[in-house]
Amino acid sequence: MTTSVATEETPATGPDAGDPEPGAGLGTALTTAYSDALAEVYDEIYPATPDLEDIADFLLTLTASGASVLELGVGTGRVALPLADKGFRVHGVDSSAGMLARLAGKDPEGRITPVHADFATLDLGRTFDVVLAPFNSLCCAVAPDEQIALMHAVARHTAPDGHVVIETFDPSDYHVQKKNEISTYPIDGRGAMIESIGVLPASQNMMIHNTLFLDGAAPRSATTVMRYLWPSELDLLAGIARLELSARYSGWREQPFDGGDSRKMCVSVYRPLR
Ligand SMILES: C[S@@+](CC[C@H](N)C(=O)[O-])C[C@H]1O[C@@H](n2cnc3c(N)ncnc32)[C@H](O)[C@@H]1O
Repeated sequence: MTTSVATEETPATGPDAGDPEPGAGLGTALTTAYSDALAEVYDEIYPATPDLEDIADFLLTLTASGASVLELGVGTGRVALPLADKGFRVHGVDSSAGMLARLAGKDPEGRITPVHADFATLDLGRTFDVVLAPFNSLCCAVAPDEQIALMHAVARHTAPDGHVVIETFDPSDYHVQKKNEISTYPIDGRGAMIESIGVLPASQNMMIHNTLFLDGAAPRSATTVMRYLWPSELDLLAGIARLELSARYSGWREQPFDGGDSRKMCVSVYRPLR
């Protein structure tokens, strides 16, 4: 996978950005193709919600406005743009040129620095005050060795007095799911998307298959794989990368984490070990 940080000479999206290289691994290649396919409807499926604003307020409890943030899996900028509104200086990494193109369309002033790269092998040669992986981005690494590599990438980009902030979902329900879960997402005036999620509990993999029915055209499908993480497993991965847990909540408003309720989000904060 090539790494390209947008500058005037080298745009991070478009023809110069480059596609994922075969060596990036099947998981990354699948996810990239999936994200490229879904980029045009992503903001309709996952609309901006008030809790996205909470992320900036949460980061302000850890650091000051103006701090540097590296967002892993920036997507269309749903999280990054509200962070920029609050004065954070955000670099956003994504392996999907389609997602970064959407971000560019929403960010004509170029407030977010896009980086077209695989986050598991990322090495920007600098650190950030906050490394942020919201909305399950870490679960996009499909195998334990990829998740370890990704956590090392997180650690090498975190300033010695910086923070790592990771949001993951509680996998309790998925772990015992017997049949595929099917959901339908209407897409305003255009059609719908059907999503099917099957689970392999032994490997903690979720097989996610989406079909888009848009504008009366032939259906288009994309498949990806994720690997869910238990909070204790996240702590173990973090420990391997010399990061230690400093706080854990069940939401961006610092709701107490009780560890049991399914589908709740888990917000974990880590600090580099000295
Ligand atoms: C669940 S989406 C979250 C997007 C955004 N953070 C949000 O909340 O809207 C995960 C994003 O991670 C990106 N991604 C997945 N695997 C990646 C990888 N190996 N390297 C870089 N980006 C990746 C996907 O393309 C996608 O945009």
